[in-house]
Amino acid sequence: MYKDLENTTVVITGGAKGIGLSTAEVFIREGANVILLDLDMEAGNLAEKNLGAQCLFIRTDVAKSTEIKNAIDKGIDKFGAIHHLVNNAGIIHYANAVTCKEEDWDKVMNVNLKSYYLTAKYTIPFMQKSGGGVVINVGSAQSFISSANMVHYTTAKSAVLGLTRAIAIDFAPMIRCLSICPGTVDTPMARNAWAEASNPEQIHQDSIDMHVLKRIAMPIEVAEMIVFATSNRCGFMTGQHIRVDGGLGIKIPGSVEE
Ligand SMILES: NC(=O)c1ccc[n+]([C@@H]2O[C@H](COP(=O)([O-])OP(=O)(O)OC[C@H]3O[C@@H](n4cnc5c(N)ncnc54)[C@H](O)[C@@H]3O)[C@@H](O)[C@H]2O)c1
Repeated sequence: MYKDLENTTVVITGGAKGIGLSTAEVFIREGANVILLDLDMEAGNLAEKNLGAQCLFIRTDVAKSTEIKNAIDKGIDKFGAIHHLVNNAGIIHYANAVTCKEEDWDKVMNVNLKSYYLTAKYTIPFMQKSGGGVVINVGSAQSFISSANMVHYTTAKSAVLGLTRAIAIDFAPMIRCLSICPGTVDTPMARNAWAEASNPEQIHQDSIDMHVLKRIAMPIEVAEMIVFATSNRCGFMTGQHIRVDGGLGIKIPGSVEE
């Protein structure tokens, strides 16, 4: 379907589960190789086993610069080149500016923002050697609007848009950079968040109701947009965000239902 992706190699952070894993599956369908950088050894090994020879999993803490650098080197040893990068790893944590511990602020910033810059830092030179490529940064509806009690998450996700513009400007025309911003997606992240709430069923239902489409997304719906945005069919877009959010954020809360 996307001929230009065939035989390319794509680095995906947080690729062992959720949106990252689904994205890996779609790239493999299109004939690409994937290098999955993820903290979760068990899920990563399972993904590698299921995805076969086109997949390399490297257990990596993307909050650590040296681990990312070593993983990229291992990926180059295996596949010989890197063409595209999907910055997707993320964690959530609840706190406001007063209750947030400094260590939790740093943790969320390191995974959700700093790792995007670091992984770009180590992969872009290889992408340039390959003749160019695309960096996708996974943002969120929270890049634009914010949930209560998520000061560090929403700050990091907003900054992802700035990083996207900076990379798009600094490495054009060889490298394009786009941010894909999902609404709620049915992944382990979302399910764990509901499970931790005092009223999981209500929170789940609220998540459904806040989307104009009256449902949450499946990971494949975000993955397909990431792969399309990486392909040449999306070749005249850079520095922008694409909202895959079921209409979350277009409606004024409390406005009268028909
Ligand atoms: N699920 C949603 O509703 C939703 C909505 C908007 C945006 N997002 C964003 O989409 C991205 C993917 O989220 P998801 O829902 O698939 O989450 P997920 O928790 O299901 O998967 C995230 C993956 O990142 C990995 N990870 C976490 N910390 C890491 C670290 N330090 N080093 C390496 N890997 C690490 C996890 O092991 C996991 O495999 C995140 O950036 C998230 O913020 C998710």
